[in-house]
Order: sequence, then structure tokens, then C-alpha cells
Amino acid sequence: MTKGIILSGGWGTRLRPLTCFTPKTLMPVVNKPVIERQMMLLKEAGVKEIVLAVSVLADALKSYFKDGSKLGLKVHYTDEKHPMGTAGAIKLAESYLKNDNFFMLNGDVILNFDFKEMLTKHEKYGGIGTIASRIIEDPTRYGVLIVDGSEKILKFLEKSEYNPPAEERARPMPINAGIYILEPEIFSYIEPKKKISIELEIFPKLAKEKKLYQYPISGIWKDIGQPLELLEGNILLMKDILKSVNLKEHKDNLIDASAKLEGRVLIYPPVTIGANTVIRNNCIIGPNTVIGDNVYIDENSEIKESLIYKDVYVSKNVRVEKSIISDNCLIRDDVLLQGNEQKLVILASFVEVLKNIKIIAPTTTDLSICHHEVVKESIS
Ligand code: GTP
Repeated sequence: MTKGIILSGGWGTRLRPLTCFTPKTLMPVVNKPVIERQMMLLKEAGVKEIVLAVSVLADALKSYFKDGSKLGLKVHYTDEKHPMGTAGAIKLAESYLKNDNFFMLNGDVILNFDFKEMLTKHEKYGGIGTIASRIIEDPTRYGVLIVDGSEKILKFLEKSEYNPPAEERARPMPINAGIYILEPEIFSYIEPKKKISIELEIFPKLAKEKKLYQYPISGIWKDIGQPLELLEGNILLMKDILKSVNLKEHKDNLIDASAKLEGRVLIYPPVTIGANTVIRNNCIIGPNTVIGDNVYIDENSEIKESLIYKDVYVSKNVRVEKSIISDNCLIRDDVLLQGNEQKLVILASFVEVLKNIKIIAPTTTDLSICHHEVVKESIS
């Protein structure tokens, strides 16, 4: 029976401070952890057992998913004291995965495609591995696949190895989407107890041996490695969910039935509003905004192009744009949080922003406030 393994043990350095105490894979996308969404897609494809390859902040994942029964899955965890690299991590799960082929996913990718169809193709190709691929306009930030007409991968080039001449840099190419199906034979390629990258050390070898194939995917795909990608990924997924709602009950927004919009609240779609959230008179919400559960937004406030996680209190006359506000933050009256097209304002959990403060991100770097800080002076 095909199982799954999801990599969830990286440091997530590019998303700090959001990932200082919460693993990247538990970051909410449209109010549910990105990894939970992946687990449900695997379940829909018939997978019943999933290994979570945890390392950094492992306990957070273990206490969230426990044995998996709440999701109707059997969940196992690996014991990886320090990150062992993407191949080192799966080697630790060999005892769970040695009997049949399995899905391997980078746990920080938002996606929506048919895993079942990919499995059918993989079994038809007959290789040791099949890599889900995407055609990307500027492939230089990704691992690039050089393929033949039968989807066989002739060369697997990691980011640093793909160096085309300047005029070809923008040529669309298939890239590694971070989702694989592997046969148990893969374990014979991975030395135990060593830090090994599957992308750098194993896939190039399999490509040389002509045992690696691609499976082009469509639908949404976005990794949330960086703050702007996390914001864009949330918006993409929200639009995708809205598109898939039955045409008869077509909706512009995803507003929980228990949310309360009091008085005159203007909503510019698409917007998501979580359970028990209260939005008071004269607020303007959206577009492209995801608000979590138990959030309170007081009168005359405006939130757009932003994410607000759960249990946040936003006071009166606050303006938030191109920002991410983590759980349990407290934003007092007349505050401005303003990011821009390139860079965001990011508040980690339990931040308090005092009255009248302005936090404005420059275009060169995200402006982040660490956990539990009290912001007493304006920053730009
Ligand atoms: P950055 O530090 O920001 O690059 O993030 P990251 O450490 O998470 O690395 P990356 O984005 O390349 O990781 C892609 C996926 O693989 C994420 O889901 C990570 O949690 C996971 N991952 C990366 N390295 C390891 C590892 O050594 N062990 C395990 N178990 N998972 C890993």
C-alpha cells in the first residue's frame, strides 16, 4: 500500500521570525497548516499512513498531529536530532517505507493536483523515482529538469548548476516541484547516518542511470519559503478554493458562519474570515486578505493584502496593508502597518504595537518584529 513521507524538519530561516517557534510546515494557509492540507490530499488519493520527517521544532508537529487519528490517518515520526538533509531524513524512515512505493513531499508547498494520476503514471514509467514538475518562466531559482520526449529526465540540475547564457535565462523550463514518488530501491542509494541532499546527491545519479521521470503538474503550486510567497500562496489558495465551490453556491469570499460583521463593513473580495471573528462598524476588509479565528477588529479599521492569524486584537482606526500579523498580537488605536509590492511588515506572535505607531517596510527588506516585543516608536 502506497504510503507518504513529508519533510518537515528544516530550519525555515527565510521565514524567521515566523518560524522561530513554529515550524514552517505549520504555517497557516487559508487558516489551516500547509502540511495538513497536503496530508488531506494524500488521504484523498488513498494514502492511509504518513511519516512526518521532523527535526527542528519536532515537538510542535508531534503535539499538533499526535497519532493522526483526528485526520483519519496513521502518522509516524522519525527521530532526527539535527537536520540530516532531504535524503538523510527519508533514510531514517526506511523501516516504515521499505515494502512499497511512497510519496515524498516537501512540507512547505501549497498544491492541488491529482496524486492518484501521478501514481498511475509513475507505475507506467517504471523508474525508481518520478518528480512532479512545473514549467516556470524564470527557472534559475529552482532545480531544473532536462527531459526527453518520454518524460525521462536526462539531467537533474540543482539551482547553482543551471547557468544558461543571459539571453536564455528567462526561457521557461520544467523545474522540480518538490513532490516525488519513489520506489524502496532508493534506500540503497542513501548512505545511513550521513547528511545527504536528495536533490544534490541522489537525483543526479538516478538521472544518469535513466531511472528518473517527470510528471508535469497543473493547478496551483507555490512554495512558502519566503514571507511574500507565504502571502501570495494564501491568496492563490483562497482563489482556488473559491473557484472550486459549486457554481450554484458561488461565493466571492470564505466567511465562517460564526463570524460577526457588525454595522457597515465593506468587504472587497477575495477575503477569508475565520470562526468567531468580530469585525466592527465602518471597517474595510480586502481584497486579498485572510483573517483567522477569534480575531477582533474594532471600528474604522482597514485591512488589505494581508494575513492575520488567530487570536489577534486590532483596535480602532488601524490600517494594515501588505503585512503578516501572527497569533496573539495586540494592535492599538491609530496604528499603520504598511508593506509594499516587494517587502512586508511582519509581526511574530504576541507583539504589541502601541497607539499612533507607524511601521513602514522599505522596498529592500521585510520589516520584522520579534515575538513578545512592544513597539513604542515608529519604524520605517
Ligand atoms: P530555509 O532555511 O528557509 O531554506 O528553509 P528549510 O530549512 O525549511 O529548507 P527548504 O525550504 O529547502 O526545505 C524544503 C522542505 O524540506 C521543508 O518542508 C523543510 O522542512 C524540509 N527539510 C529541509 N531540510 C530538511 C532536513 O534536513 N530534514 C528534514 N526532516 N526536513 C528538511
